[in-house]
Amino acid sequence: MFDTMTITKAAGALIGSLLFLLLMTWAASGIYHIGTSGGHGEGEEHAQAYTIAVEDAGGGDEAAAAEEGPDFATVMASADAAAGEKVFGKCKACHKLDGADGTGPHLNGVVDRAVASVSGFGYSDGMKAHAAEAPNWTPEALEHFLLNPKAAVKGTKMAFAGLPKVQDRANLIAYLQSQP
Ligand code: HEC
Repeated sequence: MFDTMTITKAAGALIGSLLFLLLMTWAASGIYHIGTSGGHGEGEEHAQAYTIAVEDAGGGDEAAAAEEGPDFATVMASADAAAGEKVFGKCKACHKLDGADGTGPHLNGVVDRAVASVSGFGYSDGMKAHAAEAPNWTPEALEHFLLNPKAAVKGTKMAFAGLPKVQDRANLIAYLQSQP
């Protein structure tokens, strides 16, 4: 089966690759040592610069975004109901404005309506519990809810991610106010 030549070749290849691996390890550790001892200060500087850049991209921007821009009351004062009608397009699949309930309860007259108060609609336990904490859908309560429904009302069954833009929320609430 195996002749001497095959075994010699195989052994040679094996020893060769082991030797190569050994050399590479030695070379790599050599480079590593030169790098840290030779350019010690420089290496430290690079590491620090990197850490600062990451922190800036994360926390810094978020904090700035939260503080920047006009607050809800200011935006609401000049909200555009016509623009809000377009935003309502995102709610239409589940909510109607003619008094009929769909996947969600009807939203005509929702501004200043009591939370979870449409009789015959099967609200989630989360929404019912929310009614005890914040009884009415004031414009401010709606604004908070529509930013992030699942965070504002724990356990809600409203499957909607939220409206990240304050302008969209204000316009939509102005539109809902015009739908008694
Ligand atoms: C995928 C369907 C769906 C979409 C889209 C949706 N909703 Fe809802 N919504 C629901 C359901 C279901 C409930 C009932 C939630 C519960 O009981 O937890 C609800 C509840 C509500 C309530 C509480 C009503 C009450 O009587 O207490 C408001 C206000 C509301 N939605 C507003 C909106 C607005 C505004 C939009 C669009 C920006 C929207 N929803 C998009 C399904 C949806």
